[in-house]
Amino acid sequence: MDITSTSSRTEGSTDTREASGLVVYVCRSCRDEAEPNAEPRPGALLAKAAIALGTDANVEVRSVNCLANCKRGASAAMRTADGWSYVFGGLTPENAEDLITGARLLSTSTDGLMPWRGRPDSLKRGMVARIPPLNFVEETS
Ligand code: FES
Repeated sequence: MDITSTSSRTEGSTDTREASGLVVYVCRSCRDEAEPNAEPRPGALLAKAAIALGTDANVEVRSVNCLANCKRGASAAMRTADGWSYVFGGLTPENAEDLITGARLLSTSTDGLMPWRGRPDSLKRGMVARIPPLNFVEETS
């Protein structure tokens, strides 16, 4: 992992901005697996590209130091206030537009899930996890 010692809490950089729609968190620290010392890092390139494409009324893109998915980088996560959250890996800087497409699909979803139909391939094969909303209770019968 590349979590280093950059806890946002200890550095006082915790971002407390309100998010009204969906936030895409892109790990800016993910390295190139074949060339781990290469700069700029693929994560930084992905974050920069997604931020350049991403912000509108419903979607905001922020970079983050590490999502603890370093073995499957480049990585990104998507969160909404009351829908499902997603973690993706195996991304490349060329997938920035895919992240925005997926974010817009999720932000307009009526059931809080990112639809499979229309989802970019990188967000299908690169899905690491989906996490239910805080108040989610699954019916089991
Ligand atoms: S460096 Fe850890 S998820 Fe990117």
